[in-house]
Amino acid sequence: MDEVRLRLIEEKDLPFVQEYISKKEVADPTNIPHPYPKDGAKEWYEFVIEEYKKGRHYPFAILCNGEFAGSISVRKDNDRTGALDYWVAIPFWNKGVGTTAAQKAIGFGVNELGLEKFDTCCLAKNIGSERILKNNGFKFVEEFEVGKGDKHEGKIAKLYRLIICNS
Ligand SMILES: CC(C)(COP(=O)(O)OP(=O)(O)OC[C@H]1O[C@@H](n2cnc3c(N)ncnc32)[C@H](O)[C@@H]1OP(=O)(O)O)[C@@H](O)C(=O)NCCC(=O)NCCS
Repeated sequence: MDEVRLRLIEEKDLPFVQEYISKKEVADPTNIPHPYPKDGAKEWYEFVIEEYKKGRHYPFAILCNGEFAGSISVRKDNDRTGALDYWVAIPFWNKGVGTTAAQKAIGFGVNELGLEKFDTCCLAKNIGSERILKNNGFKFVEEFEVGKGDKHEGKIAKLYRLIICNS
């Protein structure tokens, strides 16, 4: 059984981020640009660490048996509501890594940040991402057309929601 855990992203992860995120299959369903800029990982890191210091973004490395296997962030939209952003490196696909990472990120958001709700979107054709959300109890809310100026303008996306019951 693979051991999946999360820890805050560190500078030493950046060569892995740069390498894995540069793959078209990883970038395509996300807002990550492709081709990925040469200093993309470093710029992303500088941005998310600033957001982290402001308490708005919690960027984690996903570790699978101790190896860097992707990244998942908990974004705080307000005191109660969060969102998840995630990608898994291709060598680790289809092993349950994304599902377990999302479960742990939700646990962090609920227990450490006091979040009561998560809203997360994925492209309608992103079956793997949709499965991760459903596996973690998210419910389908609505389909919508991605707006102007977005990388996926005109495509159909789906909003999923998880409401935490504190009973
Ligand atoms: C989507 C992604 C995160 C899935 O990660 P993963 O670690 O392979 O996910 P899991 O192994 O936990 O798989 C979850 C489920 O989706 C299924 N699945 C995964 N990839 C799939 C695919 N391409 N097509 C169909 N089903 C897929 C798995 O079989 C599993 O099914 P199950 O719940 O019935 O067991 C990964 O493919 C990825 O990083 N894609 C590019 C970036 C991306 O799409 N990020 C999300 C943006 S919203």
